[in-house]
Amino acid sequence: MQDKINQYLQEVEAFTSTGDQDTENFRIKFLGRKGLLNDLFEEFKTIPSDQKKVMGQELNKLKNAVQLKLETLQQSNGHSRTQNEGIDLTRPSGIVPFGSRHPLAIVRSEILEIFSRIGFTVADGPEIEDDWHVFSGLNFPPEHPARDMQDTFFIRKGTENGHDEMVLRTHTSSVQVRAMENQKPPLRIVMPGRVYRNEAVSARAHCQFHQIEGLYIDKGVSFADMKQTLLYFTQEFFGKAKIRLRPSYFPFTEPSAEMDVYWGLQTEADYRITKGTGWLEIMGCGMVDPAVLSASGIDPNEYSGFAFGMGIERIAMLRYQIDDLRMFFENDVRFLKQFS
Ligand code: DAH
Repeated sequence: MQDKINQYLQEVEAFTSTGDQDTENFRIKFLGRKGLLNDLFEEFKTIPSDQKKVMGQELNKLKNAVQLKLETLQQSNGHSRTQNEGIDLTRPSGIVPFGSRHPLAIVRSEILEIFSRIGFTVADGPEIEDDWHVFSGLNFPPEHPARDMQDTFFIRKGTENGHDEMVLRTHTSSVQVRAMENQKPPLRIVMPGRVYRNEAVSARAHCQFHQIEGLYIDKGVSFADMKQTLLYFTQEFFGKAKIRLRPSYFPFTEPSAEMDVYWGLQTEADYRITKGTGWLEIMGCGMVDPAVLSASGIDPNEYSGFAFGMGIERIAMLRYQIDDLRMFFENDVRFLKQFS
């Protein structure tokens, strides 16, 4: 019996496989129901009991050797396949098809890039915010309609022991407050991000969309600085030469304005999107209200600044002539592919 085991051990050791079938034959020969190991275990029953201990160990050694061999063969299977089937692993791969960037991502980075050329850096803040950063710190009176349930998603109601109400931010202006609290002027930042409003989804409105906020605070910043900055942006982004500022109202700026771009009236589409006026509203802006500055610990007697905010979807819709906001969020590959 010992001789047989030795002979088999050598055989197992020396075995190399020419393929899957060969390996399978090897397995059946040793481990199959009528295989050599079963024969040996049968024979084992008949040997004198004083030899059983040693022979038992020898038998197990053989069995382990067979199993180890099988494992190694199976692991190297991949390699032998490549050899057998002539696959060349060193060959350069084919062209991997590129995806495309999302139109909102393209527009966002282009806007940020334009502002970075005139010294603005990027800042961000949380989407789940407290009442202070979204409303109170921006000079929204307690009963302001923007806090109404119809506009705001409330996460946690305020409690009597002074716990702040938590909301999904309704605008990126909340990041202004964080920035003013955390940094000393001069401040020159742009703040892109996602915002939420409790609105029914349609071609023109969505419960989530994106904005870019801008803030510039320093000594002696004037309304003229704001106008020139926004004109620069308009010329760089839209290639349009003319803007106008219309008086408006925001609680956190004084004076406040809407900025319109002169789009022109060359084509039928120009008439359609500008409703025949040639002008398009692009963003809200204004001089940061002194009350907002002091609420964030900046002395309004020493510093002044301007702020602005625009919707990225709206700008992307103008740039790519998209007339349904929902396209941005449906991730239809046929739509997205057009931006590669
Ligand atoms: N937060 C405003 C909105 O969501 C947009 C805005 C207007 C931002 C004027 C500003 C600003 O910074 O000065 O409609």
